[in-house]
Amino acid sequence: MKNSLVDIILARMVNESIKLDWYRGKSCLITGGAGFIGSWLVEALVRLGAEVYVVDNLWRGSLDNLKKKDGSYGIPLEDHFILGDLREYREGRVK
Ligand SMILES: NC(=O)c1ccc[n+]([C@@H]2O[C@H](COP(=O)([O-])OP(=O)(O)OC[C@H]3O[C@@H](n4cnc5c(N)ncnc54)[C@H](O)[C@@H]3O)[C@@H](O)[C@H]2O)c1
Repeated sequence: MKNSLVDIILARMVNESIKLDWYRGKSCLITGGAGFIGSWLVEALVRLGAEVYVVDNLWRGSLDNLKKKDGSYGIPLEDHFILGDLREYREGRVK
């Protein structure tokens, strides 16, 4: 299911002539990236070569959603996953 969603969004971008190369090397921050929609967006952006960061408080999401088929994580969790609540964003930091 998840892979087919990624394929659909990538195909849609091609159909709409969105330049896929544009994302290569770009830094992207996905809020709620451990959730249902966020995690496939993370995967699509990783596949396009973007450097993807995630902020999530894991209230409903799970780190499992960020796992690839082989069980490894699609982003390096130690410095690309920020466990935090966006409602507590203060002074440029998620506490
Ligand atoms: N397999 C399926 O079909 C499936 C699986 C999961 C969800 N769903 C449905 O899809 C809908 C849409 O999914 P979604 O991605 O919008 O919801 P989601 O709940 O999966 O993702 C939202 C993410 O945002 C995080 N979050 C929420 N508040 C936050 C805050 N204040 N700070 C930081 N992180 C926060 C949550 O922990 C979660 O990871 C869901 O409502 C659900 O009904 C379907």
